[in-house]
Formats: sequence, structure tokens, C-alpha cells
Amino acid sequence: MALNGAGPSNPVVIVHGGAWNVPDHLLEGSMNGAKASARAAYQILKTGGSALDAVVAAVRVLEDDVCFDAGTGSVLNSKGEVEMDAIIMDGETLKAGGVACVQNIKNPIDLARLVMDETEHVLLVGKGANQFAEEMGVKTVPVSELVTAEAMREFACYKQYGNAVEELFGRKKDFSHDTVGAVALDMHGNIAYGMSTGGITAKRPGRVGDSPLVGNGGYADNEVGAVSCTGHGESIIKVCLAHSIISYMEQGMTAQVAAEKALMKMDKRVNGHGGVIVVGKNGDIGKFFTTPRMTWAWVKDNKLHYGIEDAEDNCEDFE
Ligand code: GLY
Repeated sequence: MALNGAGPSNPVVIVHGGAWNVPDHLLEGSMNGAKASARAAYQILKTGGSALDAVVAAVRVLEDDVCFDAGTGSVLNSKGEVEMDAIIMDGETLKAGGVACVQNIKNPIDLARLVMDETEHVLLVGKGANQFAEEMGVKTVPVSELVTAEAMREFACYKQYGNAVEELFGRKKDFSHDTVGAVALDMHGNIAYGMSTGGITAKRPGRVGDSPLVGNGGYADNEVGAVSCTGHGESIIKVCLAHSIISYMEQGMTAQVAAEKALMKMDKRVNGHGGVIVVGKNGDIGKFFTTPRMTWAWVKDNKLHYGIEDAEDNCEDFE
């Protein structure tokens, strides 16, 4: 049954692997990872599965891929530790579940889903979130298993900054690894988004970015669409980036126009940079970034599109 009243929907998924200055040595791996993520989600959507299950599948693939700043591959805070944030939101009910500052969870998106499904809360942080994970039997790993050589290299590079989070993604136009996310529309007209991140390199311990905050790093509403953001969390929070895009779409803008307008406003008002992916309730697609690169992939009508540079659009059949 179509739940947004618009008839059976043509499923769509869009994923991103973070807006930043993806270095050349990570280009191929990042692109392959984004494609695998979009494929995993579309396989679920194509066979009648839910948008929620699709975004979890998409984000899990990216969390397990060392090319991305989420799960395994998360960047390190100023003490050289991993602290991860994740969220999921259901556009039908507006229920959401998020976690922040969790440390030894292999797939934080699974924990976020459990917060949404099994608690009356929206966000659990730190020790409480880790304790909930233990109660739920969520897979934990020694933190060392989440730390990659790339994360250590970035840490060595950026810890010299007096304030890395302020300088990265801002005036300095230097960009570290960032966040993964997915938005999906399923055959039943339901919409969801999911995100996961290690945050920004050399952040202060306890710092929470935009990702697990509803309306900032993302939003999903069957009546409008879904958004997932990436980039400078402090800037994204200040302009409520995801919900700005939803509001622009409610005013009649396309997903693409809304994405561009909101990111340009963030640049102008707070000098912050990043990227977004958007799906409208009718399958309208938007993606835009103000960083040098953002890995993205989307599938619709059995066609897989992907790219990493501005205006790049590669296409192949989904099989
Ligand atoms: N965009 C992710 C963060 O700022 O933590």
C-alpha cells in the first residue's frame, strides 16, 4: 500500500561517502565503496523492502569500508581516540534514533536503529549508549580494530592545528575525511535516511557533530523527502541545513535547487562547507557539494549513477 498517498513509488536510493578533498589514492576505493553501498540498498528496495532497511544496509557497507570516516576508518579525536555518531529516521512516523560519542561499536548504524525501535528516546550518548549496546547484544570490537593507517596519517597531519574543527571546512579550505549517509524512497512511498561518522579529525573529546541531530545533519518526512548532509558539523548545526532543504522543498523548490540554495547560504552566513544528498517524495533527486569532491552514487529505474567530481555523472545498468 502506498503510504504517502501518491500510488506505488519507484524506489530510489542515494548515498554519499563524505564531502571533502578525497585524495587521489582513495578515489577508486571510495567510488567502489559508494557503488557497493547503493547496490546493497537498491537490492532491498527492488524486492519490496523498506527504506529503513535499505539505508541501514547502505550505511553498513560504508562503515565496513576503510575508505570512509565511519565505523572502521573513523577519524581520531585530539586524544587519538575514536568517537562515533550515527542516526536513522523514519519519514512515515518521524521516529528517529541516534547515538553519539560511542567508542567500540563495529556498526553504529545498527545501534541507532535499536535506539529508534527499542527505546522511547531519540539520542543516547557516550557510556549510556555503550551500555545500551551491551544490553542489546550489539557487536563490539576492540577500538584498535576501527583505527586505520589513513586515520592515523590524518591525525598526525591535523593535530598540529590549534583548532582543527574550526579551520577544516572553513576559511582555510582544507578538508579532512567526513561522514557517510544514505536516503531512500521505497515502493510503499516510505522515506528514510541514515548516517554514520567518526566526525572531524582532532575534534575535542566529547564533541558531537551534526550527524546525530535531527534536522541538522539529516531529516526524513514522507510528506516532503529526505536529506543527508556531510561537512563542517558546527556550520551545519548553525544553519539547520537538512531542515532548511526540507523547508525549501515545501515551498515548491526541486531537490536540486533546494540543496544548492541551502549550501550556498551556509557558505555565505557561516563560511562553512559540505555536501548534501536529497530525495523528494516523488523520487526527485538532488546532490550538491561545496568541497572539492564528494563520493556519491544513486540508483533509480535500474540505472546506477555515480561520481566524485563536480558535474561528473557515470552510469551503468543495475544488475
Ligand atoms: N559532519 C560530521 C561532523 O561534523 O561531525
